[in-house]
Amino acid sequence: MRTTLLPFLRQLTLLIFTGLAFAAVASQAAPAIPHLAKQGTATQLIVADKPFLVLGGELHNSSSSDLTFMAPAWDRLAKLQLNTVLAAVSWELIEPREGEFDFHLVDGLIADARRRDLRLILLWFGTWKNGMSSYAPAWMKRDFQRFPRVKVQSGQSVEIVSAFSNEALQADRRAFATLMRHLREVDGDRHTVVMVQVENEVGVLGDSRDRSAAANLAYAGPVPPALLAHLSLHHAELDKDLAALWQAHGAHTSGTWDEVFGSGPQTDELFMAWHYAAYIDSVTTAGKAEYPLPMFVNGWLNKPEQRPGDWPSGGPIPHTLDVWMAAASHLDLFVPDIYQLNFEHWCRSYARPGNQLFIPEMLKGETAARWSFYAVGEHEAIGVSPFGIDSVVDIESEPLCRAYAVLRQIAPEILAHQGKDAMTGFLLDEKQPAVTRRLGGYELEITLDQGFGQKPATAGGLIINTGENEFLGAGFGFRVRFRPLAPGPALAGILAVDEGRFIDGQWVPSRRLNGDEAGRGHWWRFLDFPGKPESIPFANDLGTGISRCRVYRYE
Ligand code: DGJ
Repeated sequence: MRTTLLPFLRQLTLLIFTGLAFAAVASQAAPAIPHLAKQGTATQLIVADKPFLVLGGELHNSSSSDLTFMAPAWDRLAKLQLNTVLAAVSWELIEPREGEFDFHLVDGLIADARRRDLRLILLWFGTWKNGMSSYAPAWMKRDFQRFPRVKVQSGQSVEIVSAFSNEALQADRRAFATLMRHLREVDGDRHTVVMVQVENEVGVLGDSRDRSAAANLAYAGPVPPALLAHLSLHHAELDKDLAALWQAHGAHTSGTWDEVFGSGPQTDELFMAWHYAAYIDSVTTAGKAEYPLPMFVNGWLNKPEQRPGDWPSGGPIPHTLDVWMAAASHLDLFVPDIYQLNFEHWCRSYARPGNQLFIPEMLKGETAARWSFYAVGEHEAIGVSPFGIDSVVDIESEPLCRAYAVLRQIAPEILAHQGKDAMTGFLLDEKQPAVTRRLGGYELEITLDQGFGQKPATAGGLIINTGENEFLGAGFGFRVRFRPLAPGPALAGILAVDEGRFIDGQWVPSRRLNGDEAGRGHWWRFLDFPGKPESIPFANDLGTGISRCRVYRYE
């Protein structure tokens, strides 16, 4: 019996080992292509099979056109604690002659990013960049018969390729598809490139709409039924300005643009939004057919004193987003470039059902450092990225570097708690020195940190509810106290505050913060950015910017 069983057992063991070996190889198989996935109410970017928080920086427009120019910048970018660089790919440089492609710049960017363990988000400066068509190749610029321009009210052409040009659309689709195919070939296994922006800040400048013959013909025709169906289906969530315009003209479900929305610059803008969105959706589809990375479009934001055409008319901005969502279902995100100081307003306007916040461009410096905490903490942003990052040279004193160092450490905690109503973010300044938030059964009173009559002028932070009566916080220049919301003892006190770091994902506590560093027992404090002249003497003490607070209740 034993002798007959032995070979069988050997065979079985061999099979099991072979199976395990296969499983091991399979589990080491190339990770899935970067993609978006839901966790609770949040949408996350998944890179290397794990949620990824983009701590980015966008290069100046011309930097990526020369690898030598970029060479000294890469080490600075890595030292700044970025994990992702946003870099332009210019159509004129990758397709200098129609049908002939040159990807040496793209390949160089990928190689240089990999050397520093950085990821890339590529920006396709194709038919449009800041409204204009300045990145279109020379062969396209010269051939204005084949690639007609936008005409403005005066009847004049402007240097903006018309969104009604099918020749331009087909040429852009071919070029973008070729770029995406190339990315699949050179990066389909490593995924250094994690997302792609399709075009840049599109829209008509100098008029509220294109008045070329093709555009006029489309304008005189019916509003696309798909748009009206979308507006009807989502009427409860529509942008309030768009909803008001539609309502004011009878909320019709068919008719021409003038009949449905009334004539005027607002309607012109919606009309352009539909046609830009349809064009870009088609370019996106062509690219995704080759290599389906997540793709997004960015908007140049409007200002109250301006009119459509002062900003690019038809771009993806809050009051046109519903139109974009209806026309461009292949785009994953519609995102803002935020250079205006009312940052919270713009974040709220883009963080809508079906559109997770991501900020590819924003101011840099200390502003960016604070804004990062808010976008990530309050809106569970996929990431943030100050513009012009390659010109930051003084790394040591750069607040963004310090903010990113903190966010990098706590990224796994942030990502684990996204979509679960367990996180908040906030910005404070002299106009808004205090806010309250509800989190983990408490009302949190969050104020600018003060000590001996002095206070920082600004602060930014985030707090995560990590367990019952337990909170993890990060940021600079604020302090927190708790008020219980649930039945039970009416008062809350600080049990203990531990400062610390995450090293290789593990929490390593350092100082127990008490006394002055805990507002003499009244507050959970986050000291100001070190080295700031307005900091109080003991506030810039080079703490980690991360601490855990345990609270308790008493009466
Ligand atoms: C917004 C654009 O999208 C960027 O490419 C850059 O031009 C910035 N403005 C700063 O000028």
